[in-house]
Amino acid sequence: MSIYSAPAKIILYGEHAVVYGKPAIAVPVPLLRAFAVTRSAEPGQGLIIRAIDTGHELPVDLAAEVDNSLVEMAQRVLRHLNATPPDAIIELRSDIPVASGLGSGAAISAALARAITACCGCTLTNEDLNMLVYAAEQRYHGTPSGIDNTVIVYEMPILFRSRSDFEPFHARTPLHFLIGDTGVRAPTRESVGDVRKLYEQDKQTIQKKLDAIGAHVEAARQALETGDLSAAGRLMVENHRLLRDLTVSSPELDRLVQAALAVGAIGAKMSGGGRGGNMIALVMPETEAQVRQALETAGAVRVWAAEVR
Ligand code: PMV
Repeated sequence: MSIYSAPAKIILYGEHAVVYGKPAIAVPVPLLRAFAVTRSAEPGQGLIIRAIDTGHELPVDLAAEVDNSLVEMAQRVLRHLNATPPDAIIELRSDIPVASGLGSGAAISAALARAITACCGCTLTNEDLNMLVYAAEQRYHGTPSGIDNTVIVYEMPILFRSRSDFEPFHARTPLHFLIGDTGVRAPTRESVGDVRKLYEQDKQTIQKKLDAIGAHVEAARQALETGDLSAAGRLMVENHRLLRDLTVSSPELDRLVQAALAVGAIGAKMSGGGRGGNMIALVMPETEAQVRQALETAGAVRVWAAEVR
């Protein structure tokens, strides 16, 4: 038995605008992960994916056309490796809530690809894995920017500009975030599609908002690199306001953001596709407990802590 995994992620600044070529900053959440556990199978049994969270048992046949994202991912990996399905059972499970802006789909795809590669006795570069997970993301999202798969595959904080232009990102001081889950599931495809409609209706106005988000990301990068946390916090609040203007926040997200700020969070904003899912609050270790309490009182169904170094 071997275990392969990939982390969740949060976007600190720049979601949605990143789809239009603006920069964004994202970090992995190593404590929240998707896992793929390999188990040996009888000779000739072939490859079976056991999705523990949904109870599905999925045989992988290279020739079959199956409308299932996990099977498609397995086929994609096997074709890339030029391998036939190994005799193995791969159990998948994830601690990452689905459709909530934490990159659950990309993390499961990455963990599965790593497990299949190992079962085939092959190796896969992060570059190739990133490309394969991006292809899976296209199935979930339609027109993904590529930020989710990149931060999840490389498992490091990144400043992302495009699929071919991203770099590691180092904050000067450790950053403490709380992640608050509204409990509302919302497909990213829809919020991304709605921003596209707004953009098509009034390119000039929406472009201004996207440009402003891009400028905030550059300013936030500087603030985090120089350890100016109060500027970093202000820029989170500004970024949230612009995301509200793009209609991708929600009453639940706004309530959690307000609750965190009211008890001393340095900054707070929605994170990811929006309309539900998760928000993040930048806190000091001294204020973490009171912000957590405020998030829970304001309706967060779960709160996780994430440290970025
Ligand atoms: O998968 P999510 O919900 O974290 O959203 C990813 C970020 C977006 O900018 C909304 C979409 C994208 O492809 O970059």
